[in-house]
Amino acid sequence: LRSNQPVMYMEPLQTWSVFQYDHVKSVLFDHANFSSEHRLKPKDGPAPGAGGDHVDSPDSSAGGFSLITLDPPRHTQLRSLVSKAFTPKAIAALEPRIVELTHELLDKVSASGEMDLIGDFSYPLPVIVIAEMLGIPSEDREQFKHWSDEVVASADNFAGEQSSEAADARSAMDDYFRSIIAERRLNPQDDLISALIAAEDSQQQLSEKDILSFCALLLVAGNETTTNLIGNAVRSLLDHPDQLQKLREQPELLPSAIEEVLRYRSPLQAMFRTAARDVEIGGQKIPAGSRVVAWMGAANHDEQKFEDAGTFDITRSPNPHIAFGHGLHFCLGAPLARLEAKVALEAILERLPDLARANQEPLTPARGFIVHGVSSLPL
Ligand code: HEM
Repeated sequence: LRSNQPVMYMEPLQTWSVFQYDHVKSVLFDHANFSSEHRLKPKDGPAPGAGGDHVDSPDSSAGGFSLITLDPPRHTQLRSLVSKAFTPKAIAALEPRIVELTHELLDKVSASGEMDLIGDFSYPLPVIVIAEMLGIPSEDREQFKHWSDEVVASADNFAGEQSSEAADARSAMDDYFRSIIAERRLNPQDDLISALIAAEDSQQQLSEKDILSFCALLLVAGNETTTNLIGNAVRSLLDHPDQLQKLREQPELLPSAIEEVLRYRSPLQAMFRTAARDVEIGGQKIPAGSRVVAWMGAANHDEQKFEDAGTFDITRSPNPHIAFGHGLHFCLGAPLARLEAKVALEAILERLPDLARANQEPLTPARGFIVHGVSSLPL
């Protein structure tokens, strides 16, 4: 498809797909033509892709997850406010605690000599890290994990489309966060919720609704993706024993190995946009209002951009993959995801010298059609 039909209309899904690196990058970058406000509707026709050259402004009752489904100017405002609480420096300060949590999780399983990398390790780690960052008291952790599971399970495509169980979980979680926000307004702590309350610029502060939807976005955008990054890393290294060996001999290659996993098995394969007007790309005319899928996973394997794109090479340099997106919406959590992956892999490589698959059963893909990972990885 990337070579023969690089821009393609998929009838059953009523979406346009783009596969080539340059096209994917321009779709992600060009927010004026490719909007993130998913609920845009064509003005004179309900069917996506039905045409018309104008789209209405977004439905403000959309709810869902802020930031990722907004365009400028609102996106710019919100992003600058939440970025204040999410700086690379703040993330780097989490390292000692992430190291501690990583070892605690590995301690629990190391006695038996067997583990499911996903269920026992790469799934709980990011959930606990986010809970602690937000300042969720440890006695509420299980409850939080349950809500988080429900909300994440429903958000298959980042667009905030929810089942009724998920809607219930989301509203219970919102009530819970409301009480934490009220409490932190009176007694600020050294946590993300207090920082979000305090974040303000010359024009405004975050509203309670902004904070609630940002918290929900963090769960959806940050947890399963990081789980799959760690899972995909271990899987790719086990599938390529020469690369695993090289990494054991040269641990300084770890950051570049993580970038190669992000390219080779991108945890999020695609992002969605809506054509804000009639727009042409790769010689195809995409009508206003059409859903457009930018396949980052395909772009990251584009031979025009990456030499031997099908080869897993932990020394690849340069490696301009777009697994964290590109442009305005570039992943806010990239420093955290990279840090968690680095800490996790360091500990796994150090503590598990005999790392190997427990069996050769076929692996089951993680659920969700834009997600790339496995649901379990017995080691
Ligand atoms: C946005 C991927 C981890 C928070 C994005 C986008 C991608 C992405 C592709 C861009 C979406 C778009 O263009 O529409 C990933 C991957 C991760 C990861 C592959 C792990 C390997 C995280 C973590 C967090 C996070 C750990 C936070 C705890 C966010 C947020 C946005 C975002 C808040 C929205 C930014 C905006 O719209 O301005 N992520 N992400 N992500 N990510 Fe991540």
